[in-house]
Amino acid sequence: MINETAAVKPMVRTERDGDVLVIVIDNPPVNAGSLEVRRGVLEAVTLLQASPDLQAAVLIGAGSTFVAGSDLREFGKPLQAPILPDVIAAIEACPKPVVAALHGAALGGGLELALGCDARVAAVKTIVGLPEVTLGIIPGAGGTQRVPRRTGAARAIRMVCGGERISAAEARELGLVDAVTDGDLRSAAIIHARSLAGRKCRIRDESVPEEEPQAIDAAVQAALKAGKRRPAVVAAIEAIRAAASLPFDAALAQEREAFQQLRLSREAFALRHQFFAERDAMKLPKELQASPRSLQTVAIIGAGTMGTGIAISALDAGLDVVLLEQDDAALQRGSERIRAHYSSRVVSGKMAAEKAVAAASRLDATVDWKQLRRADLVIEAVFEELAVKQEVFARIDAHARQGAVLATNTSYLDVDAIAQATTRPQDVLGLHFFSPANVMRLLEVVRATRTAPDVLATGVELAKRLRKQPVVAGNAFGFIGNRIYNAYRKQCEFMLEEGAWPEQVDVALQAFGMAMGPFAVSDLAGLDIPWRMRKAQAATRDPRERYVAILDRLCEQGRYGQKTGAGYYTYTDGKRSATTDDIVHRIIEQASVERGIQRRAFSNEEIQRRALAAMANEAALLLSEGVAIRASDIDVVLVQGYGFPRWEGGPVFWACQLGAKTLQETMDELEQLSGGGFIRGNAALLMD
Ligand code: NAI
Repeated sequence: MINETAAVKPMVRTERDGDVLVIVIDNPPVNAGSLEVRRGVLEAVTLLQASPDLQAAVLIGAGSTFVAGSDLREFGKPLQAPILPDVIAAIEACPKPVVAALHGAALGGGLELALGCDARVAAVKTIVGLPEVTLGIIPGAGGTQRVPRRTGAARAIRMVCGGERISAAEARELGLVDAVTDGDLRSAAIIHARSLAGRKCRIRDESVPEEEPQAIDAAVQAALKAGKRRPAVVAAIEAIRAAASLPFDAALAQEREAFQQLRLSREAFALRHQFFAERDAMKLPKELQASPRSLQTVAIIGAGTMGTGIAISALDAGLDVVLLEQDDAALQRGSERIRAHYSSRVVSGKMAAEKAVAAASRLDATVDWKQLRRADLVIEAVFEELAVKQEVFARIDAHARQGAVLATNTSYLDVDAIAQATTRPQDVLGLHFFSPANVMRLLEVVRATRTAPDVLATGVELAKRLRKQPVVAGNAFGFIGNRIYNAYRKQCEFMLEEGAWPEQVDVALQAFGMAMGPFAVSDLAGLDIPWRMRKAQAATRDPRERYVAILDRLCEQGRYGQKTGAGYYTYTDGKRSATTDDIVHRIIEQASVERGIQRRAFSNEEIQRRALAAMANEAALLLSEGVAIRASDIDVVLVQGYGFPRWEGGPVFWACQLGAKTLQETMDELEQLSGGGFIRGNAALLMD
């Protein structure tokens, strides 16, 4: 029988440079720490210890990085020995020094491994960090103990709780690395290893520097606030505090125990789910894969809210931007917004002046349609009206070069109908950015009926260039995000009619973790836009559909939301002062009377269950219609674009956690309570 494992390249190999052993971790693409890597390093350390002709070792990563993290798939299962703390303990127990040579990224377990060595030499462009908290866990191999011994507790709290990524230069200042080199890393590390002359320099033997208690308290409060007091943040703070108050081994054991508990928590599973879902969403399914078209110059049509945000995002990514408006005044306003953005970035110290100047120099604001010829990609962001967009696309068709990708930023319009205004529908797709477009990471890449695979691939490529999160969606009303969000909001309106108040619904859903409640969101976005849409749809609406008229009644009284000082709430002085209003309660009670509903009390739990079940139901519909390619894509959209709590994994993850039986029962309840026009999805599609 052929021993297949023997044919596989080992993940750790050793080489000799005189009396220095070079231990090379080679687990492409990012040298993730895995069982085999741990085994290999442990064996190499044993070899170092046992070989009289060796005086030190260098630990280095093959390819473009050191260990960029641990293999996350291991975290949901029983861990197999040797675990990382065993490997680090062996390095520390070995009488000969080991030097970590860092390049690329030393993150999570990678940085912990490096901190367990006797010294760290880093290439100039290395980044280091402990991102565990963003995955609902804490460093479990001494990260919370060794970092504060070098940086002090306050800085360690900021670094660990914020999942910060730190440059080599800063890491040097903090003492997390001992030397930075712009020369050959391997040679520098070998020289460093020899210079230790057999000396051990274990961080565990150092003590945490004394600090003002107020400085630590301030760091704790800031971390708790920014980290929303999630369990991993609280545990990380506790572990770092223990570094100063307990003996090393006791604090280390405590850290490990917290890590073990957290890694199997629902929250950690949810965050790992999001992590993999985001990665999967970047990939097109096989049948849609193609090479993207070239992408250096982007023309943006419409310099309004979205157009200027998209322009900033593209400029920041190093792209050349042609910004086109219908007249000089509008162009002026748009250009001024972009200019103001960069100047405030510079003034606040968030951007170097040269960088801002360079970005602005790549912007060409114009009213001359001939400039469109230069564009590889045209993004239309004009008013949300089909006739206007069709007219604009006919003009784009006349001016853009052949082979250019043509995109619309429409929120709801039919991308096919827009594409038909051109002679090249295969080049047209939707690129649905979210507001503010230079901040929000989500980008729905909308595949219309005739969109060519390489055009779709260019949309995904653009997202990557802009450091955004692409999710491919089919061309259906509301695509993925707005479709789900509308189903959710509608269900919340049903609950108003049945007995809940807006403030109660908002509080319940915020308690679940939504960034804002649905009615506060509506007030922020403006009620007039959906009102207009409802009126436009009135003629074609299914008469059996349960229609809640509360929003219409509010708008009839001029309550358009925050911008008019009143909507579901009343705003007396600015948006922070939202108060409930008797008028609104009376409008809602009247709506209940009109539908013949006896109002009843709602618990937070019921509000949450129904609102989330409505999302899950719509997710099932989107999957059966093929609008979403994967169930996990829906979770990415809701978390990245709609304030769904990341630590709950997304609505599909939430539904799966209920288990098949409870999910079916929840859907039965939803169907029964939602009334006429409700379309039930096949919940089994969510469970795959
Ligand atoms: P906006 O009203 O702020 O900006 C539209 C701009 O387009 C205006 O500056 C206008 O002068 C310009 N424009 C209109 N017709 C034009 C033409 N023929 N040629 C050149 N420029 C023209 O609108 P906003 O909010 O930026 O929305 C633009 C598009 O983005 C809409 O389709 C909207 O549905 C979509 N969208 C909006 C989001 C938002 O939160 N505002 C979010 C996602 C998409």
